[in-house]
Amino acid sequence: MELGEIKAHWQNWAKAGTGIAATTKTPTVKALEIDALSRAVSRFGLPPASDLRGLEVACGNGINSVSLLKRHPNLSIDGFDYVEDMVASARAVAEEAGVGGRSRFFVGDMRQIGEMPELDGGYHLIFTDRAIINLNEWPLQRDALTGIAQRLLPGGLLLVIENFNAVYDQQNEARNWLGMPRRTVAEFNLFLDDDIFMSHMRSLGLALLGVEDFGSLHDIVLYLLVPAINGGVVDYAHPLVEKATELSLAAYAHGHGGFGQLGQNRLYAFRKP
Ligand SMILES: C[S@@+](CC[C@H](N)C(=O)[O-])C[C@H]1O[C@@H](n2cnc3c(N)ncnc32)[C@H](O)[C@@H]1O
Repeated sequence: MELGEIKAHWQNWAKAGTGIAATTKTPTVKALEIDALSRAVSRFGLPPASDLRGLEVACGNGINSVSLLKRHPNLSIDGFDYVEDMVASARAVAEEAGVGGRSRFFVGDMRQIGEMPELDGGYHLIFTDRAIINLNEWPLQRDALTGIAQRLLPGGLLLVIENFNAVYDQQNEARNWLGMPRRTVAEFNLFLDDDIFMSHMRSLGLALLGVEDFGSLHDIVLYLLVPAINGGVVDYAHPLVEKATELSLAAYAHGHGGFGQLGQNRLYAFRKP
């Protein structure tokens, strides 16, 4: 899909306003994403500072940022998105949650992250969540990642939740084992190749802290087991998907390591030395 069509897609979805449906068809995975981001902040830590500042790239309607602000009271967060309605919704979500004073949301395109005067020169935390995959060529994705790394302060934490081909391929292979066809990537997304991505992140001098397939059990149920007994239909509202989400959240809360590598969303955590 052309970049203009991708933007039109998000302008259309932004009509869902402050609801989760503005950014995903899978409300359950949003809970797992927020949990994964928040746990990574706690687990890997931020550099010592009295004014810890975070940045969400392509923040959508701000649900991640606001959730992190509620869980980490010592943090303030800036977010930007190229869809004006998303930014307006993000401000509304923040005000509604009582964290408007610790957040700022701007209109901006991640391809120009180096030239956005509203942003701070450097951040202690930067995160993406299904953002980079909306750029339709690797060179654009690579340049956005470079710009993001440049906005990170020394000692800063970078969390990248994106869709990666390696785990997506494994998931599709498992579908084949159950006699189901491969799923295809939405036309407005370009999933990342793990090796190419990692090679670029290393070239930026970022140190890998960890990788987490937080959505594995969720996706096993959503994309493998439920369709296998349901004529192939992916049922986002199936009660077992909700239970898988609940079990994943509880398992991580109890220090369990996860449920394999079959989730299409993967979190990479990096530190800038
Ligand atoms: C899947 S949504 C995710 C939003 C948010 N990160 C979340 O997880 O809730 C993708 C978002 O990326 C935004 N986006 C896509 N391309 C962008 C670009 N080039 N610059 C800024 N935002 C972009 C879209 O408008 C949309 O809000």
